[in-house]
Order: sequence, then C-alpha cells, then structure tokens
Amino acid sequence: MKIGILTSGGDCPGLNAVIRGSVLKGIAIHGQEFVGFRDGWRGVVEGDVIDIPRTMVRGIAKQGGTILGTSRTNPFENGGGPEVIKAHMERLGIDAIIAIGGEGTLAAAKRLTDAGLKIVGVPKTVDNDLDATDYTFGFDTAVQIATEAIDRLRTTGESHHRCMIAEVMGRHVGWIALHAGMAAGAHAILIPEQKASIEQITEWVQEAHDRGRAPLVVVAEGFVPEHMESPHSERGLDTFGRPRLGGIADQLAPEIEARTGIETRATILGHIQRGGVPTAYDRVLATRLGMAAIDSVVEGRWGTMVALKGTDISHVGFEEALGKLKTVPQHRYDEASVLFG
Ligand code: F6P
Repeated sequence: MKIGILTSGGDCPGLNAVIRGSVLKGIAIHGQEFVGFRDGWRGVVEGDVIDIPRTMVRGIAKQGGTILGTSRTNPFENGGGPEVIKAHMERLGIDAIIAIGGEGTLAAAKRLTDAGLKIVGVPKTVDNDLDATDYTFGFDTAVQIATEAIDRLRTTGESHHRCMIAEVMGRHVGWIALHAGMAAGAHAILIPEQKASIEQITEWVQEAHDRGRAPLVVVAEGFVPEHMESPHSERGLDTFGRPRLGGIADQLAPEIEARTGIETRATILGHIQRGGVPTAYDRVLATRLGMAAIDSVVEGRWGTMVALKGTDISHVGFEEALGKLKTVPQHRYDEASVLFG
C-alpha cells in the first residue's frame, strides 16, 4: 500500500514528528510505502509528490516546521476537485492520504472523503481550539515559547517600572494566553472568550503597579476590549480577516499609558510561537498521532481523525471533529483571574 502524506495550513512544531511516526510504523509493521505531497493541498491538486524513504525521516522529530512544506491552498479551487485528485492518485499509485491540518484542512478532507477518497486526518493547531481532541501538538511548544518571552518582558519591565503587554496567538480562543499568562504570573490575561473593559484592565494594571510590581498583561490576538473598536476595523484585513499590521497590544498600550500614567510597551510575539523545536510533550503526542493514523489507514477508517482523549489516542469522525471550537471555559478563566491585579 502506498500512502501520501500532506501538511496543510499554518505550520506547527511537531508536524515532522507526525510524519516520522507514520512512516516508521507504516514501513516497519505493514511494509507500506510513503510519498509526501509538497506544500499541502497544492501538491495534491497538482500531483506534486516526493518519495519518503525511511532515511528521510531520520532525526526529524525535533525539527520545527514541516519537511513537506505547507500552504493554505483549497483543494477544490485552482483546477482541483475530487476527480482531478483521484486521477493523480491513480497515476502515482497512491492508495490513501494522511492529511495533517486544522479546521480548514479537515473540512476539505471531509468533502473529499464524501466524494470517495480514502483520507484519515491528524489534528494540528498551536491554538488548541479543536474540540474533538483534548490537546493538539504545537500548543505546548507555543506556550513554552510565550512563557519564556513573557518572563523576559517581566525583567525589562521591572527595570524600567513599565507596564509590559505581550500579545500571543489565538484568533478565536485564548488557550495560549491563558496558559502562558498563568505560567508567567501575568497581572491580567485577556482572551477573546471573555469581555473586559478598558477600565477593568487599567484597574488591574494600577493595582499591580501600586504594589510595586511592573504590570504584565498577556493578551490573545483575537481579544477586543468592551467599548473599544476592534483593531481590525482600523488597519484593514488580510485574506483571513486578520489585521494587517500591529495588533490589539499596540492599541491597548497607549490607552493604558494615557489612563494610568504608567509608561507602557507592547510586544507582539507572532510567528516565533510557531517556530523552532517542539517540546518533548509535543514530540511524543505528534509521534503517537502519526502512528495511530497508520492504524486508521490499515483499518480503513476513512473520514476519521485521530484524537487525544485523556491519555489515549482514539478516533473521531470528521463530522464530530469539525463540529465545535474548543473555547476556554468560564471556570478556567475564573480560576486564573483570582490572581489578576
Ligand atoms: O491558526 C493558527 C494561527 O497560528 C493563529 O493563531 C494565527 O492567527 C494564524 O495562525 C497566523 O497565520 P499565518 O501564519 O497565515 O499568518
């Protein structure tokens, strides 16, 4: 059996560990062959593949990014679609696809499976916002990187008696902000799921300052303060509806400074959170998911995604996987907010 692997959407530390897990188990246990589609669905639509021999995955679990490349190509556009893809697969002798990606990738995979293609999915997002799996690989690494960065912001903030704002990833959910903020001991954590007014935010900042601390605010990129305009409306949107330049931290800094008189600086961590070596936790999770995807292929579980449930890997249908965004629950935010101010 020949299996084609693709990595699609935004990259994420751990992608290479998934590829390695699948290839090593597939070759060792089932004698399978592997090819990689270059740059996500683009490679699938264009039939652009490279062979993945065992030697190619040697030592890559610790390597950031993806050896296959990625893109945000939609397989139904640019001359794609199920018939074109089936023809490429037949020509190349590919029997099944392992698609590693987030919401968009899995939605495309579902449509293609419905059209008769043999696909299994592996969930991927640093944002940790897929409800059907307890954790996604890449999240732990992003939290680790963000925590280290925030720790550094704290010491420079303390030296200058400044308020420091760290903006982390999280378009729709605040998992990275919540975990990195808790780990670094933030005085305020601002996430898209929770409303907070600028008055409340400045109160937290002032309280910390009055105790002689350098106030530390961690904000998820998707947060919009109550009664303040979204930065999206001011700076224009990119194709994904995200602000082109700057972010919410840039908008909050002058507001906080004007209202409290405390000198304030904003830092947007951006793609640093997605780069570099994955943590050991992410390597293990990604490897296990990659190996479980091989089991799904062997068992013919087309249209399903491997998922972490507790400490075990199980399987969920694409339908369930796409159903719901995993947001930060109220009790988790309440728990963290006891430490604000
Ligand atoms: O979906 C993951 C994510 O990292 C978001 O948190 C972030 O908004 C986005 O991807 C960035 O995407 P891109 O790499 O296309 O700029």
